[in-house]
Amino acid sequence: MDLDAFTDLLTPRGGRALAEAGELTGADPVAAATTLRKTYDAALTSAALTQAALRERARAKFGQDAGVMYFTPHGLEQSTRTEVAEHRARRLLSLYDGTPHVMDACCGIGGDLLALARAGCAVTAVDTDPLTVAVARANAEALGLGDRVTVNAGDAAEVKPEAYDVLFADPARRTGRGRTFDPMAYSPPWPVVLGLLSRAGLACLKVAPGLPYEFIPEGAEAEWVSYKGEVKEATLWSGQNGDRRATLLPGGHTLTATGVQAPVGPAGRYLYEPDGAAIRAHLVGEVAELVGGRLLDPMIAYITADEATDTPWAARYEIEDILPFSLKRLRAILRERQIGNVTIKKRASAIDIERLRADLRLSGPNKAVIVLTRILDKPSVLLCKPL
Ligand SMILES: C[S@@+](CC[C@H](N)C(=O)[O-])C[C@H]1O[C@@H](n2cnc3c(N)ncnc32)[C@H](O)[C@@H]1O
Repeated sequence: MDLDAFTDLLTPRGGRALAEAGELTGADPVAAATTLRKTYDAALTSAALTQAALRERARAKFGQDAGVMYFTPHGLEQSTRTEVAEHRARRLLSLYDGTPHVMDACCGIGGDLLALARAGCAVTAVDTDPLTVAVARANAEALGLGDRVTVNAGDAAEVKPEAYDVLFADPARRTGRGRTFDPMAYSPPWPVVLGLLSRAGLACLKVAPGLPYEFIPEGAEAEWVSYKGEVKEATLWSGQNGDRRATLLPGGHTLTATGVQAPVGPAGRYLYEPDGAAIRAHLVGEVAELVGGRLLDPMIAYITADEATDTPWAARYEIEDILPFSLKRLRAILRERQIGNVTIKKRASAIDIERLRADLRLSGPNKAVIVLTRILDKPSVLLCKPL
């Protein structure tokens, strides 16, 4: 879809084509195109069908709003889901006295800027891609936020953070060759982002959860956010004393570093697997303290404890056996217990899970969780009851 086709989609006729395409969602694509072509030209038909399909896909991230929003395939893929963007907007407001004027320096289709505007902020935004700019603008209008949002084509490198109360940036982590994990290959590149941050009052950056610690700017708080147990992103907040924080959504639980070190000790009755946000934020000691637990191995994020403590910070399993890793022995035990269905987890183990699953030749009506890890340097396997 190019900018002309998208602009067409915003006309009353385009709106009718899109509504009709929406009603044809799920129909055979050729039949749907044939139906629309009776009324609309090929370009509008194609733009409407593409947009209707993107709206359908976007429901998982944007819920009901997806039904009136606009997307590009890359814009949707890179956008922040509503719950995560709303959490960030709430935190931003809690760190600022009043309602700030925010600069979103690489806004995409507007996942973050819409949440910021809904939270009451005035938002000025730029993006280098003119189609993406048009989409973000259309989204602000579609959600009734047009009066609070200004979106222009522009390069983040040209932004003057001093002119705004808060700078927000979510640099693109895609290059021509796909996704990148190297901040120097972000667009805009990391030095540009840091330059903006150094000139901003309050700044907030969205980055990949795997951002190496050495890239965290001095004094910034790093917050790892997981949504329904999956780590989605990290956010860097300038001027927050270098704290580390993990946040769980949609529950909103949050944990900060206290510096507590988890003791190491023998396996108890339960195994706790901390949420990835706590692991990335190096808060395993804090989670161990919450469950009264200890580490099985000083280098590995598995916690064990004698008591069952309910916590949103870790999944809990009941340990039935711990053995040195041996395929033959494991297979024999599973067979004896008629375990035909296993969930296999691993940490610090090189074993290929799918290969192991095949090699176990499972059969039987029972279920188990198998945890592959190292305990004090010995490859070990924990056989657990799913809870
Ligand atoms: C990860 S997306 C932003 C997603 C957005 N936060 C959201 O939730 O929808 C990054 C965006 O940065 C834009 N971009 C890349 N380089 C840029 C630059 N130098 N200046 C401004 N925008 C840029 C890309 O076009 C892309 O739309």
